[in-house]
Amino acid sequence: MCGIVGYIGKQVAIPILVDGLKKLEYRGYDSAGVAVLDCEKIVVSKSVGKLVALEEELGQAYSQSCIGIGHTRWATHGRPSQVNAHPHCDCKQDFVVVHNGIIENYLELKDMLIEKGHKFASETDTEVLAHLLEDYYEGDFEGAVRKVLKTIRGSYAMVVLRRLDPNKLVAARKDSPMVVGLGDGEFFVASDITAILNYTRKVYILDDGEMVVITEDGVKVSDFEGNSRTKEVYDVKWDAVAAEKGGYEHFMLKEIHEQPKALKDTMLGRLEEDKVILQEVDLTLEELAQINKVYIVACGTAWHAGLVGKTLIERWAHLPVEVDIASEFRYRSPLVDKHTLVVVVSQSGETADTLAALREAKNRGARVVAVTNVVGSTVSREAHDVIFTWAGPEIAVASTKAYTTQLEGMVLLGLYLAQVKGTLPTEKIGEIITALKRIPAQVQELLDQAGLIEELAKSFAKVENTFFIGRSLDWAVAMEGSLKLKEISYIHAEAYAAGELKHGTLALITENTPVIALATQRDVYEKTISNVKEVKARDAKVIGLTYAGNTSMAKSVDHVIYIPETMDELSPILTVIPLQLLSYYVSVARGCDVDKPRNLAKSVTVE
Ligand code: F6R
Repeated sequence: MCGIVGYIGKQVAIPILVDGLKKLEYRGYDSAGVAVLDCEKIVVSKSVGKLVALEEELGQAYSQSCIGIGHTRWATHGRPSQVNAHPHCDCKQDFVVVHNGIIENYLELKDMLIEKGHKFASETDTEVLAHLLEDYYEGDFEGAVRKVLKTIRGSYAMVVLRRLDPNKLVAARKDSPMVVGLGDGEFFVASDITAILNYTRKVYILDDGEMVVITEDGVKVSDFEGNSRTKEVYDVKWDAVAAEKGGYEHFMLKEIHEQPKALKDTMLGRLEEDKVILQEVDLTLEELAQINKVYIVACGTAWHAGLVGKTLIERWAHLPVEVDIASEFRYRSPLVDKHTLVVVVSQSGETADTLAALREAKNRGARVVAVTNVVGSTVSREAHDVIFTWAGPEIAVASTKAYTTQLEGMVLLGLYLAQVKGTLPTEKIGEIITALKRIPAQVQELLDQAGLIEELAKSFAKVENTFFIGRSLDWAVAMEGSLKLKEISYIHAEAYAAGELKHGTLALITENTPVIALATQRDVYEKTISNVKEVKARDAKVIGLTYAGNTSMAKSVDHVIYIPETMDELSPILTVIPLQLLSYYVSVARGCDVDKPRNLAKSVTVE
């Protein structure tokens, strides 16, 4: 989604804003802009496209002002264009605003303002904020912002500058992340910590309903009513270099290769020989005895992790599980009450639909466990219990290390529930833990074969349609494999339960439709092979994935990728690795923008 950055201090603002926007670009990148205060004038520069375009627009002779705001936009209201790019001003150019999120009542406010004679330049909801400020201003900057906050509905993180208040930034948040960076005589505001890590690691994480006034002298946090709030300084442990490419050509490839470490980190301190320790989850046997159903709610890749979680929890903890797409969950009156455990899965912890589902579940009395990768994220702060995945910042839009660590989170949660309920013998838990500890090294084994996958990817460069098939847990992984290929290589890929093909989809199989067949689940292996034969009989080229030591699959397919030997339940963490690599190399072979695929954003903070 969009990204915001603001600066006030003694350094020239524009290079700091542009640097911050570069770190945020992955959140949205159809246009960008900055505004600074220069000699009692607001100077705005904007451009469509990537940040290089803005840098060109700014040139070398940019303003030397030490206060400014910047924005990268991912269009919601109004198409991507220079005029719709942020920052936005009022009629008199007295106020300038950057904003993430959506102002839901902007049309009625816009009509009201037009009636009063305001002239709008853009199609955005954001511009309403600048005109409202102009309308409400009666000699008190903060007072005008507060009045605006009371008038608008929706989700937002915003930063405002006023032409005649040259030493002040005012910011506020509701349902959209925002942090304030505390430097030495200088301050930063941003929608994402990454944007300011080059300058400081001390931050305030703003809560919903908080407003902040930043001057060179300090930071004052209050609620929307003006009551002051005390904030704790959060010390960011990871450094900016961790968020850089570290020698890889793309963030996605770097993140694929980080998976052994991410998986190791995520299990750190959580596994004894035959016991799972989840300090952040505090469910007693008595509480669990009251739970009769589990809902897993998430979007996209995180939802795919939830599909695997369903099988694990049902198999190990004997609890019925429903998996729901977060954007659907709220709108069909889910049967959720105090006897339901709701598990929300979100890498960013800021996905609007997932957050809304979390709140809906809490309103209905459910206990909510979050599986998330971002400490301090809204999801992590609002859930009752949190299992953090320790994947580190994920920059590529296509999720890789977040997915495999989410799968690990599902394994940990499934085992934990089984352990508390006593539905798995201790020896069995011990066996699973032993197998889980081997997974990072086995992921590495697969990564060491990246060259073979790169070769295989060449034959996909001209493909336009493909199918991923599998049964049981393989079907869940097939969905993730097909999403990866779609989103970064723009090849139409569909995932099908292997047994379902003959009910219609088989009609699409031709010699030009390669099929990727996942057959790692031993209990349904024979059945999957029958389905592979069905597509082979229609001349499809088939790449098979099966467990190491299984020599039979080679007889039925064109090429086999062997997955290191593990328990069927843990196999998804391994099976997805070649699929991630395949998508990556196909995307490169087709000349696509791997890290920033078209039309997509990393963090989706609108519904
Ligand atoms: C795909 C991808 C998305 C996200 C989805 C949810 O590669 O990354 O499908 O999984 O937008 O995002 P989070 O996990 O941040 O809630």
